[in-house]
Amino acid sequence: MHTQPQAQARASQPARGGEALPGTGSAPGAAGGPAAPSAPAVPPPIEIHDMTVAYHHKPVLWDIDLVLPEGKLIGIVGPNGAGKSTLFKAILGLVPLASGWVRVYGERYQPRRGLIGYVPQRETVDWDFPVDVLDVVLMGSYGRLGWFRRPGRREREQAYEALRQVGIEGLARRQISQLSGGQQQRVFLARALCQQARIYLMDEPFASVDAATERAIIAILHELRRRGCTVVVIHHDLQTVAETFDWLVLLNMRVIAAGPTSEVMTDENLARTYGGRLNLLSRVAELVARQPAHGG
Ligand SMILES: Nc1ncnc2c1ncn2[C@@H]1O[C@H](COP(=O)(O)OP(=O)(O)OP(=O)(O)O)[C@@H](O)[C@H]1O
Ligand SMILES: [Mg+2]
Repeated sequence: MHTQPQAQARASQPARGGEALPGTGSAPGAAGGPAAPSAPAVPPPIEIHDMTVAYHHKPVLWDIDLVLPEGKLIGIVGPNGAGKSTLFKAILGLVPLASGWVRVYGERYQPRRGLIGYVPQRETVDWDFPVDVLDVVLMGSYGRLGWFRRPGRREREQAYEALRQVGIEGLARRQISQLSGGQQQRVFLARALCQQARIYLMDEPFASVDAATERAIIAILHELRRRGCTVVVIHHDLQTVAETFDWLVLLNMRVIAAGPTSEVMTDENLARTYGGRLNLLSRVAELVARQPAHGG
């Protein structure tokens, strides 16, 4: 049996086998006063403690402490090379940690892997791999089936439903090498939907998509949140951050700030995240605007 993604299942039972962790408040008699006798706290979807990640001994993420809340649409924002994709890879156990730990609903990632749907950054995928769209989307169901059961009719129906949701059901039998960038993006979204996960990690799903696709993706994000999923999205467009996300993490090798978007989106935090470059850019824009419109 596998996990139920529904909010109902979550509300009525704490994460199975979740060990008591520091800071989750789930341990009876934890420091800070008497524990409530009922309603044990469910560990957060993602908790990261004191985590450092290095490539070839050069740290790219430093001392990350982060607790992501459940059921929110969460944006991860920071400049190129800030370590955003690496943060996802660390959560997924795809890169080794130099120190610290990551917990998914209070446990290590491996036993929880079926709970996370991952949409990778598009440029990092080998699109020449000879599979068609339906095959890629069906991969989403492998976690539920285990490796030795092949997807059957039910899974195929779910895959088609996911393709309909992202508006590309007509492309099911197309080789993935023959898709446009926006269509490729939708294939990975459909695969993640098929997975029926509780947590979604999406690495720049809005990169190089048109306005219609962007609206379709936003509708899917809202639908996932409505189902009680926790959706974490790496995002580059600062203009749309406030209207898109409930919660925000500003990242640049370290967590600069994390919390409700309205509290985190301050000029000071953004300047710290982008190393003052934002200020500089807006100063330049101001000066340019004041220049009389002639050369020399
Ligand atoms: N496999 C790797 N080996 C060595 N260094 C790497 C590797 N992957 C990423 N890096 C380096 O780690 C740093 C963080 O990279 P990461 O891809 O996490 O950044 P990012 O915030 O996702 O950037 P972008 O916005 O450009 O996608 C960068 O300096 C990058 O060059
Ligand atoms: Mg990246």
